[in-house]
Amino acid sequence: MKKIIYIFGIFIVLGGLAFVTLNTFTEISTQPVNQISLSNTNQNFDSEDMIQLPEPTTDGKVSLEKALTLRRSIRNYSNEALSLEDISQLLWSAQGITNERGFRTAPSAGATFPLEMFVVANNVEGLSKGIYHYSPFEITLEVIHLKDIAAELMRASHSQSMIAESAVVLVFGAVFERTTDRYGERGIRYVHNEIGHASQNVHLQAAAMDLGTVVIGAYRDEEVEEILDLDPDIRVLYMMPVGKLK
Ligand SMILES: Cc1cc2nc3c(=O)[nH]c(=O)nc-3n(C[C@H](O)[C@H](O)[C@H](O)COP(=O)(O)O)c2cc1C
Repeated sequence: MKKIIYIFGIFIVLGGLAFVTLNTFTEISTQPVNQISLSNTNQNFDSEDMIQLPEPTTDGKVSLEKALTLRRSIRNYSNEALSLEDISQLLWSAQGITNERGFRTAPSAGATFPLEMFVVANNVEGLSKGIYHYSPFEITLEVIHLKDIAAELMRASHSQSMIAESAVVLVFGAVFERTTDRYGERGIRYVHNEIGHASQNVHLQAAAMDLGTVVIGAYRDEEVEEILDLDPDIRVLYMMPVGKLK
Protein backbone atom coordinates (compact mmCIF):
# COMPACT_ATOMS: atom_id res chain seq x y z
CA MET A 1 0.00 0.00 0.00
CA LYS A 2 2.86 2.37 0.97
CA LYS A 3 4.49 1.65 -2.38
CA ILE A 4 1.31 2.58 -4.29
CA ILE A 5 1.00 5.88 -2.38
CA TYR A 6 4.70 6.57 -3.07
CA ILE A 7 4.35 5.94 -6.84
CA PHE A 8 1.15 7.99 -6.92
CA GLY A 9 3.01 10.85 -5.19
CA ILE A 10 5.80 10.78 -7.78
CA PHE A 11 3.21 10.97 -10.59
CA ILE A 12 1.59 14.03 -9.03
CA VAL A 13 4.96 15.82 -8.62
CA LEU A 14 6.01 15.00 -12.22
CA GLY A 15 2.60 16.06 -13.55
CA GLY A 16 2.89 19.37 -11.72
CA LEU A 17 6.36 20.01 -13.14
CA ALA A 18 5.20 19.22 -16.68
CA PHE A 19 2.24 21.56 -16.24
CA VAL A 20 4.44 24.47 -15.11
CA THR A 21 6.93 23.94 -17.97
CA LEU A 22 4.25 23.68 -20.64
CA ASN A 23 2.45 26.68 -19.28
CA THR A 24 5.40 28.96 -20.02
CA PHE A 25 4.55 28.59 -23.69
CA THR A 26 0.83 27.81 -23.61
CA GLU A 27 0.38 31.17 -21.85
CA ILE A 28 0.68 32.48 -25.38
CA SER A 29 -2.83 31.42 -26.25
CA THR A 30 -4.56 32.61 -23.09
CA GLN A 31 -3.21 36.17 -22.79
CA PRO A 32 -4.84 39.29 -24.24
CA VAL A 33 -1.88 39.63 -26.61
CA ASN A 34 -3.51 42.22 -28.80
CA GLN A 35 -3.50 44.72 -25.98
CA ILE A 36 0.10 44.02 -24.98
CA SER A 37 1.46 44.44 -28.46
CA LEU A 38 -0.65 47.51 -29.23
CA SER A 39 0.63 49.41 -26.23
CA ASN A 40 4.19 48.32 -26.94
CA THR A 41 4.25 49.32 -30.58
CA ASN A 42 2.91 52.79 -30.00
CA GLN A 43 5.67 53.93 -27.64
CA ASN A 44 7.27 57.23 -28.53
CA PHE A 45 6.15 57.31 -32.13
CA ASP A 46 3.56 60.04 -31.90
CA SER A 47 4.53 61.86 -35.07
CA GLU A 48 1.83 63.96 -36.74
CA ASP A 49 2.76 62.62 -40.16
CA MET A 50 1.10 59.35 -40.91
CA ILE A 51 1.01 57.65 -44.31
CA GLN A 52 -1.73 55.11 -44.87
CA LEU A 53 -0.34 52.16 -46.82
CA PRO A 54 -2.36 50.13 -49.32
CA GLU A 55 -3.88 46.93 -47.91
CA PRO A 56 -1.42 44.04 -48.54
CA THR A 57 -2.53 40.99 -50.44
CA THR A 58 -2.76 37.59 -48.73
CA ASP A 59 -2.69 35.70 -52.00
CA GLY A 60 -0.23 35.57 -54.87
CA LYS A 61 0.71 33.82 -58.09
CA VAL A 62 4.12 32.46 -57.02
CA SER A 63 4.10 29.22 -55.02
CA LEU A 64 6.07 28.93 -51.80
CA GLU A 65 8.30 26.31 -53.44
CA LYS A 66 9.00 28.66 -56.35
CA ALA A 67 9.84 31.54 -53.99
CA LEU A 68 12.19 29.27 -52.03
CA THR A 69 13.89 28.23 -55.26
CA LEU A 70 14.19 31.82 -56.50
CA ARG A 71 15.44 33.33 -53.23
CA ARG A 72 18.96 34.65 -53.66
CA SER A 73 21.01 37.48 -52.14
CA ILE A 74 20.86 40.22 -54.76
CA ARG A 75 23.15 43.22 -54.39
CA ASN A 76 22.58 45.17 -57.63
CA TYR A 77 19.34 46.98 -58.30
CA SER A 78 17.90 49.11 -61.09
CA ASN A 79 17.29 52.73 -60.16
CA GLU A 80 13.50 52.38 -60.58
CA ALA A 81 11.33 53.47 -57.67
CA LEU A 82 9.27 51.05 -55.56
CA SER A 83 5.58 51.78 -54.97
CA LEU A 84 3.71 52.09 -51.68
CA GLU A 85 2.02 48.78 -52.58
CA ASP A 86 5.45 47.13 -52.75
CA ILE A 87 6.51 48.58 -49.39
CA SER A 88 3.24 47.59 -47.73
CA GLN A 89 3.56 44.02 -49.00
CA LEU A 90 7.18 43.63 -47.86
CA LEU A 91 6.45 45.02 -44.39
CA TRP A 92 3.39 42.80 -44.07
CA SER A 93 5.54 39.75 -44.82
CA ALA A 94 7.85 40.74 -41.94
CA GLN A 95 5.31 41.61 -39.25
CA GLY A 96 1.79 41.73 -40.74
CA ILE A 97 -1.12 40.93 -38.43
CA THR A 98 -2.77 37.69 -39.42
CA ASN A 99 -5.40 37.08 -36.77
CA GLU A 100 -7.78 39.00 -34.55
CA ARG A 101 -5.46 38.55 -31.54
CA GLY A 102 -2.62 40.50 -33.14
CA PHE A 103 -0.46 37.51 -34.07
CA ARG A 104 1.98 38.04 -36.93
CA THR A 105 3.28 36.48 -40.15
CA ALA A 106 6.39 35.47 -38.15
CA PRO A 107 6.30 33.46 -34.91
CA SER A 108 7.13 35.25 -31.65
CA ALA A 109 8.35 33.62 -28.40
CA GLY A 110 5.45 33.85 -25.95
CA ALA A 111 3.80 36.33 -28.36
CA THR A 112 5.97 39.05 -26.81
CA PHE A 113 6.48 40.73 -30.22
CA PRO A 114 9.85 42.43 -29.71
CA LEU A 115 10.28 43.49 -33.35
CA GLU A 116 9.75 46.98 -34.75
CA MET A 117 10.10 47.61 -38.47
CA PHE A 118 11.51 50.81 -39.95
CA VAL A 119 11.85 51.97 -43.53
CA VAL A 120 14.63 54.11 -44.94
CA ALA A 121 13.04 55.48 -48.12
CA ASN A 122 15.60 56.25 -50.83
CA ASN A 123 13.37 56.03 -53.90
CA VAL A 124 9.69 55.29 -53.25
CA GLU A 125 6.80 56.81 -55.24
CA GLY A 126 4.74 58.97 -52.92
CA LEU A 127 7.26 58.92 -50.07
CA SER A 128 9.83 61.62 -49.27
CA LYS A 129 13.34 60.49 -48.46
CA GLY A 130 13.46 59.73 -44.78
CA ILE A 131 13.00 57.24 -41.96
CA TYR A 132 9.58 55.82 -41.12
CA HIS A 133 8.15 53.47 -38.52
CA TYR A 134 5.70 50.75 -39.59
CA SER A 135 2.57 50.14 -37.58
CA PRO A 136 1.23 46.67 -38.49
CA PHE A 137 -2.11 47.31 -36.78
CA GLU A 138 -3.03 50.47 -38.65
CA ILE A 139 -0.96 49.54 -41.75
CA THR A 140 0.67 52.95 -41.67
CA LEU A 141 4.08 54.55 -41.83
CA GLU A 142 4.85 57.23 -39.29
CA VAL A 143 7.50 59.79 -40.16
CA ILE A 144 10.47 59.73 -37.83
CA HIS A 145 12.79 62.04 -39.80
CA LEU A 146 12.60 63.46 -43.29
CA LYS A 147 16.23 63.50 -44.32
CA ASP A 148 18.45 61.71 -46.78
CA ILE A 149 20.69 59.39 -44.72
CA ALA A 150 21.60 56.93 -47.50
CA ALA A 151 25.29 57.91 -47.79
CA GLU A 152 25.86 58.05 -44.03
CA LEU A 153 24.11 54.71 -43.49
CA MET A 154 26.18 53.13 -46.25
CA ARG A 155 29.43 54.34 -44.63
CA ALA A 156 28.34 52.90 -41.27
CA SER A 157 27.74 49.60 -43.08
CA HIS A 158 31.33 49.25 -44.25
CA SER A 159 30.48 51.10 -47.49
CA GLN A 160 28.16 48.36 -48.76
CA SER A 161 26.74 50.20 -51.76
CA MET A 162 23.37 48.33 -51.68
CA ILE A 163 22.34 50.51 -48.75
CA ALA A 164 22.45 53.66 -50.87
CA GLU A 165 21.59 52.17 -54.27
CA SER A 166 18.39 50.36 -53.22
CA ALA A 167 14.93 51.93 -53.34
CA VAL A 168 14.38 51.19 -49.65
CA VAL A 169 16.21 49.72 -46.70
CA LEU A 170 14.01 47.74 -44.32
CA VAL A 171 15.43 48.03 -40.81
CA PHE A 172 14.71 45.28 -38.28
CA GLY A 173 14.70 46.79 -34.80
CA ALA A 174 14.05 44.94 -31.54
CA VAL A 175 13.04 45.93 -28.03
CA PHE A 176 14.76 43.09 -26.17
CA GLU A 177 13.04 43.82 -22.84
CA ARG A 178 9.66 42.74 -24.19
CA THR A 179 11.01 39.21 -24.45
CA THR A 180 13.70 39.16 -21.71
CA ASP A 181 11.16 40.45 -19.14
CA ARG A 182 9.39 37.12 -19.59
CA TYR A 183 12.26 34.75 -20.39
CA GLY A 184 15.35 36.35 -18.83
CA GLU A 185 18.68 35.77 -20.62
CA ARG A 186 17.14 33.17 -22.92
CA GLY A 187 14.93 35.90 -24.33
CA ILE A 188 18.00 37.29 -26.12
CA ARG A 189 18.24 34.08 -28.12
CA TYR A 190 14.51 34.20 -28.84
CA VAL A 191 14.75 37.72 -30.28
CA HIS A 192 17.57 36.64 -32.58
CA ASN A 193 15.52 33.61 -33.62
CA GLU A 194 12.59 35.87 -34.36
CA ILE A 195 14.60 38.24 -36.56
CA GLY A 196 15.53 35.19 -38.64
CA HIS A 197 11.87 34.29 -39.14
CA ALA A 198 10.83 37.80 -40.12
CA SER A 199 13.77 38.44 -42.45
CA GLN A 200 13.31 35.13 -44.24
CA ASN A 201 9.68 36.09 -44.81
CA VAL A 202 10.87 39.30 -46.49
CA HIS A 203 13.42 37.37 -48.56
CA LEU A 204 10.68 35.04 -49.84
CA GLN A 205 8.18 37.85 -50.36
CA ALA A 206 10.76 39.81 -52.37
CA ALA A 207 11.50 36.73 -54.49
CA ALA A 208 7.78 36.26 -55.15
CA MET A 209 7.52 39.94 -56.21
CA ASP A 210 10.56 39.73 -58.49
CA LEU A 211 12.50 42.16 -56.32
CA GLY A 212 16.09 41.93 -55.17
CA THR A 213 17.23 41.96 -51.55
CA VAL A 214 20.00 40.82 -49.22
CA VAL A 215 20.32 40.72 -45.42
CA ILE A 216 22.94 43.09 -44.05
CA GLY A 217 24.51 42.05 -40.75
CA ALA A 218 27.87 43.78 -41.19
CA TYR A 219 27.65 47.33 -39.85
CA ARG A 220 28.76 49.37 -36.86
CA ASP A 221 25.84 49.09 -34.43
CA GLU A 222 26.25 52.34 -32.50
CA GLU A 223 26.84 54.37 -35.65
CA VAL A 224 23.80 52.95 -37.44
CA GLU A 225 21.61 53.49 -34.38
CA GLU A 226 22.83 57.06 -34.07
CA ILE A 227 22.16 57.81 -37.75
CA LEU A 228 18.66 56.34 -37.60
CA ASP A 229 18.02 58.18 -34.32
CA LEU A 230 15.40 55.71 -33.09
CA ASP A 231 13.98 55.25 -29.62
CA PRO A 232 16.93 54.34 -27.29
CA ASP A 233 15.27 51.00 -26.38
CA ILE A 234 15.59 49.80 -29.95
CA ARG A 235 18.54 47.75 -31.17
CA VAL A 236 19.05 47.38 -34.92
CA LEU A 237 19.61 43.70 -35.70
CA TYR A 238 19.38 43.53 -39.48
CA MET A 239 18.88 45.68 -42.55
CA MET A 240 17.50 44.60 -45.90
CA PRO A 241 17.97 46.87 -48.91
CA VAL A 242 15.31 46.15 -51.56
CA GLY A 243 15.18 47.21 -55.19
CA LYS A 244 13.88 46.23 -58.59
CA LEU A 245 16.05 43.80 -60.54
CA LYS A 246 18.42 45.19 -63.17
C1 LIG B 1 23.72 36.66 -40.47
C2 LIG B 1 23.98 37.05 -41.91
C3 LIG B 1 24.61 38.25 -42.17
C4 LIG B 1 24.84 38.65 -43.48
N1 LIG B 1 25.41 39.86 -43.73
C5 LIG B 1 25.63 40.25 -45.01
C6 LIG B 1 26.19 41.53 -45.27
O1 LIG B 1 26.46 42.34 -44.38
N2 LIG B 1 26.38 41.86 -46.58
C7 LIG B 1 26.07 41.03 -47.60
O2 LIG B 1 26.28 41.40 -48.76
N3 LIG B 1 25.52 39.80 -47.38
C8 LIG B 1 25.29 39.41 -46.11
N4 LIG B 1 24.69 38.19 -45.86
C9 LIG B 1 24.24 37.37 -47.00
C10 LIG B 1 25.17 36.19 -47.31
O3 LIG B 1 26.37 36.67 -47.84
C11 LIG B 1 24.46 35.26 -48.32
O4 LIG B 1 23.28 34.76 -47.72
C12 LIG B 1 25.36 34.11 -48.75
O5 LIG B 1 26.38 34.59 -49.59
C13 LIG B 1 24.59 33.02 -49.48
O6 LIG B 1 23.96 33.54 -50.63
P1 LIG B 1 22.37 33.42 -50.86
O7 LIG B 1 21.70 34.24 -49.79
O8 LIG B 1 22.13 33.98 -52.24
O9 LIG B 1 21.98 32.00 -50.76
C14 LIG B 1 24.46 37.78 -44.56
C15 LIG B 1 23.82 36.59 -44.27
C16 LIG B 1 23.56 36.22 -42.97
C17 LIG B 1 22.83 34.93 -42.70
